[in-house]
Amino acid sequence: MASAARSVSRALRSTPATSAFRPAVRSSRFALPSQGFRAASRRGYASEADAGKKSNTFLWAGLAVAGGAGAYFYLKGGDAGVSSKDFVPTQADYQKVYDAIAKRLADETDYDDGSYGPVLVRLAWHASGTYDKETGTGGSNGATMRFDPESGHGANAGLKTARDFLEPIKAQFPWITYSDLWTLAGSCAIQELGGPVIPWRPGREDRDVSACTPDGRLPDASKDQRHIRDVFYRMGFNDQEMVALIGAHALGRAHTDRSGFDGPWDFSPTVFSNEFFRLLVDEKWQQKKWSGPTQFTDKTTQTLMMLPTDIALVKDKEFKKHVDRYAKDNDVFFKEFTDVYVKLLELGVPFTSKAEDRYVFKTSE
Ligand code: HEM
Repeated sequence: MASAARSVSRALRSTPATSAFRPAVRSSRFALPSQGFRAASRRGYASEADAGKKSNTFLWAGLAVAGGAGAYFYLKGGDAGVSSKDFVPTQADYQKVYDAIAKRLADETDYDDGSYGPVLVRLAWHASGTYDKETGTGGSNGATMRFDPESGHGANAGLKTARDFLEPIKAQFPWITYSDLWTLAGSCAIQELGGPVIPWRPGREDRDVSACTPDGRLPDASKDQRHIRDVFYRMGFNDQEMVALIGAHALGRAHTDRSGFDGPWDFSPTVFSNEFFRLLVDEKWQQKKWSGPTQFTDKTTQTLMMLPTDIALVKDKEFKKHVDRYAKDNDVFFKEFTDVYVKLLELGVPFTSKAEDRYVFKTSE
C-alpha cells in the first residue's frame, strides 16, 4: 500500500499530469489543477528568477568587497572545498545548498508517500511559527528546536526526521547556519514539489538553548477559529494570510505516532497545489469514527482527512471567502502563498539585506 502510494507520488512528480494519465491514479473528481496551469505559474516565476539573479550579483559583489562586513556569516573553520577561513558565501553558494537538498529529496524516496519534502516544509514552519511580535522572541532566527525543551514540545513531534535529513547537508556546507538551512530547505521543498518559487535570503544566526521559546506557541489542531486567530495574530498575520498558509496542508500527512491524527489531506501529498482548498469546498466532510482524536474524513472515499482547525476555515465566514478564492484559482493561491510563506520564514530575523535582494533559486529539472 505504502509503496503503491509512493509509485503514484513519484509518477505524479515525474510524469506530466496529462489528462490521459490522471484518471489512472485518481478519479476525475479529484483531478489536479491542469499541468498547463501549474506550468504557467512556473513559467511566470522563471523570468523573475533571472531578474533576481541579476540584481543580486551587484549586492553580493558589494558584500564580498566589504570583506565580510560582518553582515553575513563570517566563517570560522572553512567550508568543504574552500580553503579560506574567511569565506563569505555568495548566491551561487546558496544555490549549491539548494541543489544538494533537492538531490537528497530526489534520492531518498523510501519515506512516507515518497518524499521528505512535506516534513521539511513543516520544519521551516514550526521553526518560524514560534514568533511573538510583542516581545520579538521566537521565529526562525536561532534554530532553537535543536535543543530540549523545544525539540520535545508536543507540536514538534516527528520533526527530528526533518532535522536529521538535513544533517548531511549541514556537514557538506558547514558555513550555513541551521536557521538558514532549515528555512532554505522549506523554500526548496515547496519548489521541488511543484509549488511556486519562494524567494529567500540568508541572515539568520543560531542561538543557544536559552533562546528556546515556551511550549504552546504553535497551533493546536483540535481547536477552532478563535484559537487559529489568537496564534496567527500573535505572529502578525491577517485572516487572508493565515488561510493561505494553511493551504500547505496540500502536502504530507498526519501520523498517529506524532500528532495522533492520521492520513493525508488529498490524493497527491507530494504535489503542492490548491487541492486542500478544492477538497474542503467540494467534498462532504464527516467526523471519522475511530478511537483517535476528533478529525474529519471525506464522504466519498473515506481515505482523506481534515483537522478540526482545517474545517474551521469553512465554518468561519471571513476565512471561507479566502478558501473559495483559492479553491477556484490556483494562480491566486500560489501568489498569495508565496508572499506569506516568505513573510513567515523571515519573522523576527534581523536582516541587514533588503527585501528586494532576496534570492530566487533555480528549481531542479
Ligand atoms: C492552524 C494551523 C495549523 C495546525 C493546527 C496544523 C496542524 C498540523 C498537524 C496536526 C499535522 C500532522 C503532523 C503529523 O502527525 O505528522 C500537520 C502537518 C503538516 N503541516 Fe500543519 N498545521 C497548521 C498550519 C500549518 C502551516 C501554516 C503550514 C506551512 C506553511 C503547515 C504545514 C504542514 C505540513 C507540510 C504538514 C505535513 C507534514 C508531514 O507530512 O510530515 N501547517 N499540521
